Amino acid sequence: MSGTLLVATHNAHKTGEIRTILGAYFDEITDLTAIPGMEPPVEDGDTFAANSTIKALAASKERPDALILADDSGLEVDALGGGPGIYSSRYAGEDATDATNREKLIEELAKPEHAGDARTARFRCVVTVAQAGEVVGQFDGAVEGRIADAMTGEGGFGYDPVFIPEGYDKSFGELSAEIKNGMSHRGRALEGFVAWLEKR
Ligand code: IMP
Repeated sequence: MSGTLLVATHNAHKTGEIRTILGAYFDEITDLTAIPGMEPPVEDGDTFAANSTIKALAASKERPDALILADDSGLEVDALGGGPGIYSSRYAGEDATDATNREKLIEELAKPEHAGDARTARFRCVVTVAQAGEVVGQFDGAVEGRIADAMTGEGGFGYDPVFIPEGYDKSFGELSAEIKNGMSHRGRALEGFVAWLEKR
């Protein structure tokens, strides 16, 4: 496989993980830093798939010649009725950071109304592939786990230090990138993409 893949994100952590996972399949994997000044699209879909599609098509409109891959992802916590879900990046408000989002989640689950609630959760990811302004593929992935009582580890990004995947007693913030990528929502969605690439 060869050529360039343009990842429709400004999130350097996502680009980094996607580069690690797909590096062998492309000569170059770049992201929206390659389209300076591009107006970010309004992500007003109500599912990961809808927002992933919005991002893929917006980037494809700017660069119709390129193979575009967009990732929309987030954390669903059962005790929060599946939240923050598609609002994961803005859970602590419009100016949220990964740190304030994690703090808010730990504080929320520590409230008396959540005492005794299951701490089960999952990360979900939908990857949409676009070319010449059209969606040409869509792949999803999920990883089940639970929310820790406190943050552990410095690795990964976002909610990684508070998410303990099923079968482990360490958070994604503590586990190696290799272990995370081998089982993560993003890793699984990208397995679908690789199978599609190989058939193409
Ligand atoms: P998006 O960029 O709109 O798709 O928002 C994704 C948000 O979900 C990120 O800001 C993170 O907070 C969270 N998220 C998605 N994937 C991961 C992951 O692999 N680890 C930790 N947090 C993640």
